[in-house]
Amino acid sequence: MSSQHSDKPVTGTLWEIPRGFIYVGVLLLCLLLVPPVVILRARAMPSEHPRIHIIQNMDNQPKYLAQHSSLLFNDGRAMRPRVPGTVARGQMIDDTHFWLGLVDGEYATTFPTQVTVDDALLDRGREQYDIFCLPCHGVTGAGDGKVHERAMVLLNNGTNGTVWVQPRNLHQPDMQDLPPGQMFHTIGEGFGNMAGYAAQITPENRWAITAWVYALQVGRNAPADAVPAADTLPVKSHNLDGGDS
Ligand code: HEC
Repeated sequence: MSSQHSDKPVTGTLWEIPRGFIYVGVLLLCLLLVPPVVILRARAMPSEHPRIHIIQNMDNQPKYLAQHSSLLFNDGRAMRPRVPGTVARGQMIDDTHFWLGLVDGEYATTFPTQVTVDDALLDRGREQYDIFCLPCHGVTGAGDGKVHERAMVLLNNGTNGTVWVQPRNLHQPDMQDLPPGQMFHTIGEGFGNMAGYAAQITPENRWAITAWVYALQVGRNAPADAVPAADTLPVKSHNLDGGDS
């Protein structure tokens, strides 16, 4: 019986590869480890140098930020004071009624003459209210927006020590007596825990929102006979203190 074994050395093993190749291969494998180690170190260790930023994509550009200095000007400031006697474009408060909601230092009780209260203004007001106010004050203004709902969940969980002031119910009696100038002022400058929106909302749109808030109030207090065919509509019992929507 012939044997499968032979005395010939086994072919095709590693040992037939010249030693030099193996050494070089091992060396290359070790060298391959260097870049990841360098990258890991760079990511983990604090450094004084700016980040390596290969693809610039115009991410950095020479410019002056607030409080930077500049050698161009005698006083060394990059921020320039206002030129006396000038007003920046769009910052001319020539009419305190329109711009600040004030007439003779008191909150205006009327809309300024530049603003016509019509359907177009109300549409605009509704749109702007829905963007800027609805998240907190709710779709009807009852102070029950989604942000409020979420804050109440966090408050009840005690998450991160949440504290929360409920957005005002815009239907409570003192809110119905708010003169337009004061509503306008609150939207722009904020009130208590509510931030002001002057930077985001133009004065025209702040007046439009003011009109829409009054529309919400009028709508809520409207007698049933103001609605055509009201007696044919299904009736829902209302909680006039807010909370329903
Ligand atoms: C981030 C939530 C939030 C948003 C957005 C918000 N408000 Fe308020 N608002 C509040 C809170 C909270 C209060 C009560 C503040 C307080 O009592 O300290 C308040 C109070 C008010 C008041 C009562 C002011 C007063 O004189 O008592 C008015 C009016 C009002 N908001 C209108 C608006 C309008 C209009 C908008 C949209 C431009 C708006 N709010 C957007 C949270 C918000």
